[in-house]
Amino acid sequence: MIRAYIKSIAYCVPDKIVTNDDLSKIMDTSDEWIISHTGIKKRHFIGENENNSDIAAKAAKIAMKKGGITADEIDFIIVCTGSADYLGFPATACLVQEKLGAKNAGAYDISAACTGFVFGVETAANFIKSGNYKNILVIGSEVLSRIIDMSDRNTAVLFGDGAGAALISGNEDSESKSEIISSYLRADGSGENALKRPLGGTAHPFIPGVTDPKECFIYMNGRQVYNFAVKAVTNTILQIMEKNNLTIDSIKYIIPHQANIRIIEAAANRASIPIEKFYINIENYANTSAATIPIALTEVVDKNLIQRGDNIITVGFGGGLTYGGNYIKW
Ligand code: UT7
Repeated sequence: MIRAYIKSIAYCVPDKIVTNDDLSKIMDTSDEWIISHTGIKKRHFIGENENNSDIAAKAAKIAMKKGGITADEIDFIIVCTGSADYLGFPATACLVQEKLGAKNAGAYDISAACTGFVFGVETAANFIKSGNYKNILVIGSEVLSRIIDMSDRNTAVLFGDGAGAALISGNEDSESKSEIISSYLRADGSGENALKRPLGGTAHPFIPGVTDPKECFIYMNGRQVYNFAVKAVTNTILQIMEKNNLTIDSIKYIIPHQANIRIIEAAANRASIPIEKFYINIENYANTSAATIPIALTEVVDKNLIQRGDNIITVGFGGGLTYGGNYIKW
């Protein structure tokens, strides 16, 4: 039996750091408001000459080095993103394929907003288990700084740029290691209008002289997404625990999507799970959408917070609306 496992994981954030105080100089906000309402202290913004595919490729190269594999050995590249280099096509994954020189790889993007990495991990795991692929890169990568309206304090303070890449491979040993055991993936399209980037698709194409340029930015009904998110996080964790016979004590870490510390605290409270079980790093990166979970998981691994055999759960939620999680036995 082939088991799918996370062979290595890495992240890349751009060098430029933007603090809450920096933002308060260009909009009507404050460090105090942002920290108390979200938990965010700073975020990274990409440089002028870089794009999503650049940071995605950088994260992937570090993961490949950690995993000890060459570009030729990559069979498939999945980029999970809501802020692709291009709207529609070509897929950012194709640009990453070129930047890595992964000449034996297929490539496509997954569009599941902030839940993208969770969906990508499950997709890759099943490709691996089919026996047709040996090494797959799953990359959550976002450049949200280019699609936020810097004149809208309701959204501008929430997001950052970054990328996280997992190398998912096949393990034919009898011993399990960092194995992707199962996932819970859901969508609720009735929330179409709660979180979206309205402009550019066939529903709302660009019409010169008519289109309001602001429609190319992220629109969010914060309260609606907040309420959905608390339920989605709670529901996902409880579903994964039930399906896999996990108790709270048997879970070492939950790696949640980092959108707002208050969402994580409310979900922890609702599910009666101690907040210490949740790995939280939103203060340093803000919401990097599909990249928050792989960035957080990399930190958990690099800091030796989890050991072989520990149970971990990822949980994401976002535009679509989408939500879900992965159960990984490290
Ligand atoms: O990845 C998934 C996508 N995103 C999310 O999950 C975000 C989900 N939603 C949230 O995290 C929260 O709803 C927000 C952080 C977006 C907003 O927090 P809130 O506590 O729900 O604030 P609010 O929208 O109710 O606004 C409260 C006040 C308002 O002022 P008034 O009308 O009471 O005078 C806002 O205008 O705070 C004001 N406000 C701000 N003030 C200073 C909103 N944004 C800011 C700001 N700085 N940046």
